[in-house]
Amino acid sequence: MEINWKTSLYCLIGNPIDGTYSPIIHNFIYKEEEIDNIYMAFNIKEDKLKETLKGLLSLNVKGFNITAPYKEDIIPFLDEIVEESRDIGAINTVKNKNGKLIGINTDGLGFMKMLDDNNISLKDKRILIIGAGGAAKGISYELIKEDLREISILNRTKERGVKLKKDLNRLNRDLEIEVFGMEEDINKYKFDILINTTTVGMEPYHDKSPIDLDGFKENLIVCDIIYKPLETKLLSEAKVKGFEHYNGVAMLVNQGVLAQEFWLNRSLSRKMTLETIEYIQEYVRLE
Ligand code: ATR
Repeated sequence: MEINWKTSLYCLIGNPIDGTYSPIIHNFIYKEEEIDNIYMAFNIKEDKLKETLKGLLSLNVKGFNITAPYKEDIIPFLDEIVEESRDIGAINTVKNKNGKLIGINTDGLGFMKMLDDNNISLKDKRILIIGAGGAAKGISYELIKEDLREISILNRTKERGVKLKKDLNRLNRDLEIEVFGMEEDINKYKFDILINTTTVGMEPYHDKSPIDLDGFKENLIVCDIIYKPLETKLLSEAKVKGFEHYNGVAMLVNQGVLAQEFWLNRSLSRKMTLETIEYIQEYVRLE
């Protein structure tokens, strides 16, 4: 597609933005769908968020993503947050609708879409989430809307897990949530799905796994939200054990596809999502 006067700019703002795949994902979609948009990434200094937003509005930029450390800082500048993202307290996607900024968080929704696309049902399931940071929060805020049996949170800093449990139970009082520290003994056998949201498995911890998979039942589903490397130590161990397992590429691509659908105000095909996932897998593999 040729860039001309009609081309619209979309972007990511964050700091740092080094190595982000968002431009690769969005520009691939624009090319495949023949949409006359381009997507750039901008590294924004800490005290420049307000000015940046003013600038984006002046340029009539129709949509942008926000990444760390601004996912919470953006909130006071928004005119509206879509209902399903109001409780999370973090926003990763904004639409400029006639000068009004509307926010949504597609991070957790991207994970849910990945489960759905792989026909993974959550009904009556017992889920073990490793980690209690921003990514764990995004995913668990979506999980608690489902008809689950139980969530357990395992985190290095137990108090952070306890804080997340409290926040989650405020929204869903009936859901059973247990919290463990890394050294504690847990009944692994009862879990149906394990989700790693920590950075253990990524550089510089690429040779580490956040949990030993011995003791889990044989139909355990293992999800790692890490996408680089494509196969973390946790996932290679899951593979050896014959567990169904998923890396973070589908979640990453799905949060982008959902952002794109929010901006375009229409759905993209499942084929488009699958092609983007394949493209990003290959891109990461060759990098
Ligand atoms: P993100 O937004 O990616 O979730 P984060 O909020 O910094 O990032 O959270 C990182 C998660 O990885 C946390 O759960 C963190 O555990 P702590 O709460 O104890 O810090 C976890 N984590 C990071 N490095 C870890 C390590 N070496 N071992 C175990 N857990 C680790």
